[in-house]
Amino acid sequence: MKYDVKVKNLRKEFQIYTKAPGLKGTIKNLFKREYSVVKAVNNVSFSIERGEFVGFIGPNGAGKTTTLKCLSGLLYPTSGEVSVLGYTPWKRESDYLKRIALVMGQKNQLWWDLPAMDSFLLNKEIYEIPDSEFYPRVDDLIDLLNLARVVNIPVRKLSLGERMKCELLSSLLHAPQVLFLDEPTIGLDVVMQKKLRTFFKDYNKKYSTTVMLTSHYMDDVKELCKRVIIIDGGRLIYDGSISSLVNQHAIYRNISFVSAKQIDPEDIKKLGEVVSLNGHVGTIRVKRSDVANVSSKLLKDFPVEDLNIEEMKLENVIRILFDK
Ligand SMILES: Nc1ncnc2c1ncn2[C@@H]1O[C@H](COP(=O)(O)OP(=O)(O)O)[C@@H](O)[C@H]1O
Ligand SMILES: [Mg+2]
Repeated sequence: MKYDVKVKNLRKEFQIYTKAPGLKGTIKNLFKREYSVVKAVNNVSFSIERGEFVGFIGPNGAGKTTTLKCLSGLLYPTSGEVSVLGYTPWKRESDYLKRIALVMGQKNQLWWDLPAMDSFLLNKEIYEIPDSEFYPRVDDLIDLLNLARVVNIPVRKLSLGERMKCELLSSLLHAPQVLFLDEPTIGLDVVMQKKLRTFFKDYNKKYSTTVMLTSHYMDDVKELCKRVIIIDGGRLIYDGSISSLVNQHAIYRNISFVSAKQIDPEDIKKLGEVVSLNGHVGTIRVKRSDVANVSSKLLKDFPVEDLNIEEMKLENVIRILFDK
């Protein structure tokens, strides 16, 4: 098995200087600065195979961005070992930087007053991409991202979605083997999110790029990743397939049904937590172990015409996991 990313016992601590309130605190601080330590990444290990598309999720402040910054060489870790494509990221060797990219949804690297194409040309020089590779690749990416009408307009005039697509194109010009995507769809509307999702999927397939994706949008994760790595408070709390995550932690299931007759809410309340009830149609939530029992009661006591048992949504499973 070929691993593009290997992380072993990664830790990153930040020192935050604290100050007691008021003037006294300020004076005290002059003589002795007090600080506290934030363990942003706390002993995290995982490996990612070539071509894998892994979701990296966790609540705000979990340590996702810090991890990705360590992997892409923007931060020195406090301790631990990282090897990406055989390189140690924080040495920032130019051969390494030419083979990876970190895309951050909230960061701009394009020149605001120039057309995106000018920034692409600048990147061509920085990354020393030969003409014979650059032009076909730009064409291909413009095509995939549907940017033909956009790349010659000054970036400041573009919509957020168009700008994000140009940012992406710019990050992919040097054909990185490993791609770190940090909230790439944040703030985009649903249609644009979907377009980018399709792009990521096609791109990963076409080039066997190894991708680590953080996103708040579980639709992104569900559609793109078979495997997820979940961190919370700097610690890894799950690493495995989405399907077994749902299997292990989906303690509830929803039972949806259609009845031939109007249903009295009082009758249905006894069977489970009512999610929705609208005349003949309803959904209740029951413990997984009660599903069989409740289903048969439904069928016995109501003129049920259709019955469906649904797995919990990934969002809800993850919420339960974080609540623990
Ligand atoms: N430069 C920094 N200095 C101090 N604390 C930081 C710094 N960067 C991140 N942190 C802290 O580290 C923790 C993890 O942050 P981050 O990696 O950005 O989380 P995420 O991307 O999962 O939301 C948070 O508590 C954050 O406040
Ligand atoms: Mg972040």
